[in-house]
Amino acid sequence: MRVVITGALGQLGRQLVAAFAGHEILEVDLPAFDIASWTTADELAAWQPDLVVHAAAYTDVDGCEKDPELAFRVNAVGAQNVALAAQRSGAALLHVSTNEVFDGARRDLYREWDQPNPLSVYARSKAAAEQIIRDLLDRFYIVRIAWLFGPAGANFVTKILASAEKHGALRVAADEFGNPTYATDTAVAMAELAATGHYGVYHLTNAGFCSRYEFAREIGRLAGRPDLPIMPILSADWPRASRPPLHSVLANTNAAALGIVLRPWQEALADYVALLRSSS
Ligand SMILES: NC(=O)c1ccc[n+]([C@@H]2O[C@H](COP(=O)([O-])OP(=O)(O)OC[C@H]3O[C@@H](n4cnc5c(N)ncnc54)[C@H](OP(=O)(O)O)[C@@H]3O)[C@@H](O)[C@H]2O)c1
Repeated sequence: MRVVITGALGQLGRQLVAAFAGHEILEVDLPAFDIASWTTADELAAWQPDLVVHAAAYTDVDGCEKDPELAFRVNAVGAQNVALAAQRSGAALLHVSTNEVFDGARRDLYREWDQPNPLSVYARSKAAAEQIIRDLLDRFYIVRIAWLFGPAGANFVTKILASAEKHGALRVAADEFGNPTYATDTAVAMAELAATGHYGVYHLTNAGFCSRYEFAREIGRLAGRPDLPIMPILSADWPRASRPPLHSVLANTNAAALGIVLRPWQEALADYVALLRSSS
């Protein structure tokens, strides 16, 4: 199979390249390739892919709040260009989306068919991408993930460890809940899903969920710092440009029906922290 991977140099993109090894891959990313350019659709279609995996995005959530124009240009117009490439070449599209399309107001798990209600600029631009893809294509997988961590990325895990190193004590939101998701695990699951031909909307996070505070505690424990002073705070007390959804927790219902199940997040985190410790 000929597979385009956008955002191939990103945290998830690198793991996608590994997960699709064995296929012929065209990796695209900034600075050489800008998905927001009007030439994207033709350039990608000319390569005649069978599958386009779209992981590129402007992922700085607070940056999106400050520059909505850029957020929509990359995340919505870019997704449209990539979807048009798939349309023109007759390829299927696997589009990576986010738990943040939900407002998190419901104290329950969100399923694939629940109605998005994005709060932030980033979330609105990602929800717009989902809608564009539904409008343009018949053969698509929309795959929502959350709280991503993995090799070659600055993520919550690396930030907690760096901050602990620097300050010795941490303040972490105890009222924000989500599903920690290991990039390596979800990339493998995406490759499995793309082989099924069961198009639709999927959630592919590691099993289980927690608060940011619980996530940080587990990171400290696994890093050999169980006594790290971590103070639980309210998300609203953490100064930032955007407000995250407080309880946007995903249930992986559709993938489970296909037999695609990711391991518990604690096991994945243990592997990742061990990897970080072995390489430091
Ligand atoms: N990180 C999370 O917690 C999380 C949670 C839910 C969903 N997601 C989604 O998962 C996907 C991958 O996220 P990630 O954490 O791997 O993000 P990432 O590390 O920021 O990777 C995204 C990649 O896309 C590239 N990119 C940005 N603008 C581009 C453009 N105009 N043209 C081409 N490439 C461009 C980035 O390049 P630069 O680095 O040079 O900008 C980067 O290499 C995204 O769709 C994101 O929305 C992420």
